[in-house]
Amino acid sequence: MLLLILILNIYFLVTDGRVGLTSALIGPKLYVMGGTEGKYVYASLLYYDFTVLFDNFAKHATPIPVYSIWGTASIGGPDRTKIFLIGGIMADTKSGNLSNTLVYSYDTINGNWTAPEISGNQPLRRREASSTFNPDNGWIYIFGGATTKSTGFNSTIFYNDFIILDSIGLSWININSSGDAPSRRASHTATLIENGIIVFIGGYDLVDNTTFRIVDINQILMYDTKLGKWEYQFAVGDNVDPRYGHTSVLAPDGNIIVYGGKKIGDLIGLRAKPDLVVLKVTTIPFQWFAPSIPTENAPPPLTYHIAAIIENCMVISYGNITSDFSEPIGSNSEVYLFDTNSYKWIKEYMPHSASTIIRSIQIIGIIMYIVAAVGLLVSSFLKFKKYKTQ
Ligand SMILES: *[C@@H]1O[C@H](CO)[C@@H](O)[C@H](O)[C@H]1NC(C)=O
Ligand SMILES: *[C@@H]1O[C@H](CO)[C@@H](O)[C@H](O)[C@H]1NC(C)=O
Ligand SMILES: *[C@@H]1O[C@H](CO)[C@@H](O)[C@H](O)[C@H]1NC(C)=O
Ligand SMILES: *[C@@H]1O[C@H](CO)[C@@H](O)[C@H](O)[C@H]1NC(C)=O
Ligand SMILES: *[C@@H]1O[C@H](CO)[C@@H](O)[C@H](O)[C@H]1NC(C)=O
Ligand SMILES: *[C@@H]1O[C@H](CO)[C@@H](O)[C@H](O)[C@H]1NC(C)=O
Repeated sequence: MLLLILILNIYFLVTDGRVGLTSALIGPKLYVMGGTEGKYVYASLLYYDFTVLFDNFAKHATPIPVYSIWGTASIGGPDRTKIFLIGGIMADTKSGNLSNTLVYSYDTINGNWTAPEISGNQPLRRREASSTFNPDNGWIYIFGGATTKSTGFNSTIFYNDFIILDSIGLSWININSSGDAPSRRASHTATLIENGIIVFIGGYDLVDNTTFRIVDINQILMYDTKLGKWEYQFAVGDNVDPRYGHTSVLAPDGNIIVYGGKKIGDLIGLRAKPDLVVLKVTTIPFQWFAPSIPTENAPPPLTYHIAAIIENCMVISYGNITSDFSEPIGSNSEVYLFDTNSYKWIKEYMPHSASTIIRSIQIIGIIMYIVAAVGLLVSSFLKFKKYKTQ
């Protein structure tokens, strides 16, 4: 019986590592979708609830209508309670054929998936694009990415334009942007900062159809959603390896925290260093800052992982573990937390927005646990005493 419980526990506690998955944060819940553990691509959605101490992704697994990898996900809908899973490789779970549907939407209230009908011309399926939700108009700005054989297209083409999905009106939006057109890229990041500006960092593209080229990490591309205009900034400051397959989140102080990624050296997928860097965007010129951070509780160096920010805590999970000497050496299934105030990796985090009831229940739980543990200790001590004197 004990063995069975033990096995069940292990089954529930350990999740497979995933790479090439995508994520979206709604309230205190971080949803992840798709990805691969190496051999198989997943057709599942999992979530991590931050109002539960040490919650586990795998505890909340529900199916997605398709196998999904290298897609991008965004929140959306009139109440921002929907997740839109966009592009990437989506394969029918029965036939394994590439799906004709470009967008699936998950209703986090009712817990069901739909293939929403979207008016306008359906764009080409791209992989490794970024998506940014603009709360001002409900539009999802999908930038860059590439078409490849795996996305049902004969040639590999990288893109430098937007596909815009109106997540409220459910239509594809065409806009003409002003400013100099940006360079093509995939596996970059896009972060919405103050004043409706999207900041794009890193990524890679292909030159002459054969050579991968990494985007200059100091050339910061920006898009002003209010003016519909491309803009540029040259970042100064600390030396930072160029990278793709990294993550970026907006910290409460208005700056961008970048984690992980790979660079292109003699080998294509070496670890990009430093692992954690900050792009200060609250001052002009933008500035790279490589803080020194205690290694306690720190994640391994990762690429194609996920990241999100809950209040002042950055969450990192999944991804491939990168190396200084070789292509990635394995995958990660753990969750790591970074305190953006103290600049330290921490063990646990309870959002302030979690209701005081939940917080008090948990505090009571911890106190009861301590009382029980102390009780056990005292009673064993008493027993010990008794035994000795007898
Ligand atoms: C899957 O693709 C194959 C090859 O293109 C085709 O013959 C088959 O009918 C497709 N199956 C479904 C269910 O669409
Ligand atoms: C999702 O669930 C809600 C509530 O149960 C239901 O009204 C709605 O029709 C469902 N949508 C789909 C596409 O199944
Ligand atoms: C891709 O290539 C195949 C074989 O060369 C051809 O039959 C097909 O029409 C091409 N598809 C597209 C979208 O160009
Ligand atoms: C964008 O520009 C093209 C060419 O000038 C024009 O035909 C099209 O109507 C414009 N689209 C929008 C949404 O303004
Ligand atoms: C790259 O590939 C495209 C499509 O296959 C082709 O049209 C183009 O000429 C190629 N470019 C070079 C520089 O080989
Ligand atoms: C993750 O890394 C391993 C080891 O390098 C590699 O075999 C695997 O293909 C990687 N996964 C993905 C999805 O890139």
